[in-house]
Amino acid sequence: MEDLSFLTIKNKRNFTNWLKIIKPFLESKEFQRKKLLFHHENQSLWHHCVKVSFMEYELALKYHADEKTCAIAGLLHDFYEKAWYYTPKLEKLPKRFKENFINPKKTQLTQKHAFSHP
Ligand SMILES: [Fe+2]
Repeated sequence: MEDLSFLTIKNKRNFTNWLKIIKPFLESKEFQRKKLLFHHENQSLWHHCVKVSFMEYELALKYHADEKTCAIAGLLHDFYEKAWYYTPKLEKLPKRFKENFINPKKTQLTQKHAFSHP
C-alpha cells in the first residue's frame, strides 16, 4: 500500500471510497514512474496528481458532481510522459523519458511546460 499520509483526510469513508476508484491507476507501472518526475511545489508528479485527485473527489461530493470522473480526471490531469526538469532520480529511467528538458531562462512563456503539457 502506498504512503498517502501527505493527504489531509477529514472523512475516512470518503478516503476509502476514493482509494477504491484510483487504486488500479496507482498500482500501474506507468503511474509509478511519475514518482521520478519532478513537477512543482518540490514534489513529484505522482504526489501532485494524487493530491489533486483527492481534492477533486471531495469537491465533487460537495457540489454533487460525478466523483468517480473527478477522481480519475484529477489523477490524469498532468499525465505527461517525459520529464521537463532534470533530477538525479531520472537516471533510473530509460533515455526516452529524459529528452524533453527545457531551459527556463531561455524559453518563451508560451513554450514553457505549463502551456505545452496535457
Ligand atoms: Fe497540475
